[in-house]
Amino acid sequence: MEIPAPQGLPLLGNTLQIPSRSPAAYFTELADRYEQGLFRLDIVGRKVTFVYDPDLVAELCDETRFKKRIQPPLAIVRDFAGDGLFTADIDAPVWGHAHRILMPAFSQRSMKAYYPQMLEVAEQLVASWAARQGEDLPVSDDMTRLTLDTISLTGFGYRFQSFDSPELHPFLQAMGGALTEAMLRNQQLPMVTKLRRRQEEGYRRDIATMRQLVDDVIRRRRASGGGAKDLLGLMLEASDPLSGERLSDENIRDQVLTFLIAGHETTSGLLSFALYNLLRNPHTLALAYDEVDRMLPGDEPPGYETIMKLDVVARVLEETLRIWSPIPAFAVSAEADTTIGGGYPVSAGDPLVVLLPALHRHPKAWERPAEFDIDRWLPERRAEHHPAAYKPFGNGERACIGRQFALTEARLALAMVLRRFALSDPAAYRMKIKQTLTLKPDGFTLRVRERAAHE
Ligand code: HEM
Repeated sequence: MEIPAPQGLPLLGNTLQIPSRSPAAYFTELADRYEQGLFRLDIVGRKVTFVYDPDLVAELCDETRFKKRIQPPLAIVRDFAGDGLFTADIDAPVWGHAHRILMPAFSQRSMKAYYPQMLEVAEQLVASWAARQGEDLPVSDDMTRLTLDTISLTGFGYRFQSFDSPELHPFLQAMGGALTEAMLRNQQLPMVTKLRRRQEEGYRRDIATMRQLVDDVIRRRRASGGGAKDLLGLMLEASDPLSGERLSDENIRDQVLTFLIAGHETTSGLLSFALYNLLRNPHTLALAYDEVDRMLPGDEPPGYETIMKLDVVARVLEETLRIWSPIPAFAVSAEADTTIGGGYPVSAGDPLVVLLPALHRHPKAWERPAEFDIDRWLPERRAEHHPAAYKPFGNGERACIGRQFALTEARLALAMVLRRFALSDPAAYRMKIKQTLTLKPDGFTLRVRERAAHE
């Protein structure tokens, strides 16, 4: 069986058809066209197969046959994230060392330990919005302030104090620039990348800006004498329980940068999309208000146990991750030449991209797929879900290590916002996605006003 593929040009294949600033939207459009549940593109000489039929994805999730291999765009992200967990090859011993050293930092017990700091930053968000009632609030920017400050404080004891400044921190400018450039380079012939001197200089400057901050984070910790049990404490002091290996200084830099990026960019997107969904679905918004009024009465800071018991807020986040997955894709490769779907040939090593927007709305797995419906996540309905139709955190051993962290932080922030504010969207924002490898709503603003009791 032949994998369907749109006609391309000689040599360049489909490269020029892919819009450089919004590749994910284009791939999702193609998915609508190819009902077979997969298609193949030739991108600068690479044969890339996009897969979104849930049964085919179930095959790709079999880790005995398919593994994450570092290919573009992640191979490009290695320019700045090096051998950090996200971009290290599974066979590189350093991935296993760091994975085993850091796993305890993501246990349920650790989430509880980080909670007071998560709360501190969530309170800063609420205070900042309370002072700006009636203004158009830049949702993605403020969610980025929240999530960046949370990962840096809980993970590294470092305070960005982002809510004190009207400008986003230079680290974020540099990160946005570097991630966008990595996405553009993914679709460029190496020759073209070489010729774009100005972009190359900007890219190197952005990487240097990010690295300076990482060095500052590590220097401050070393100066403070250590002893902390956070991510950085573990990296500096713990050894791999299996091999006894410690992480090298260079690897610690890669990991700190990886966590600063992976630890905030996606959660910020999740919270922004969640607020958008709540504004578009007044019935669900009313249920969420009702829940926070019942579970978080008064002005007392909510406890960790209460946040973990929230049900409507949790289901809002799960459904948001289905409809608008901040990471639009992850990739694996076959360990040996094989076929999928009972006859589509796949060569060892070629990239197979699980396309999440199309998988998460696949009609074979989801009824009324475009509808935002949090009741899909009621306990009795979860059993109906196709086992491979929901993968916002990736798969298997290389799935997201920060999943619990993200969900705890997002539940808390959403609950704190809903308890305090009535949300409105007088500009009637229409979804426009901005892609910098990950996805976020572009230019989305909302307004808040303090809620009257029992409103
Ligand atoms: C890996 C999604 C939050 C750290 C991944 C992967 C996905 C993902 C899809 C797999 C990528 C691949 O297969 O190439 C998300 C989403 C998040 C989120 C949707 C928020 C809603 C976080 C947070 C942290 C984090 C808060 C850290 C505190 C990581 C790391 C990896 C990873 C280090 C690489 C794991 C490995 O391969 O060993 N994430 N993530 N993520 N994520 Fe997340």
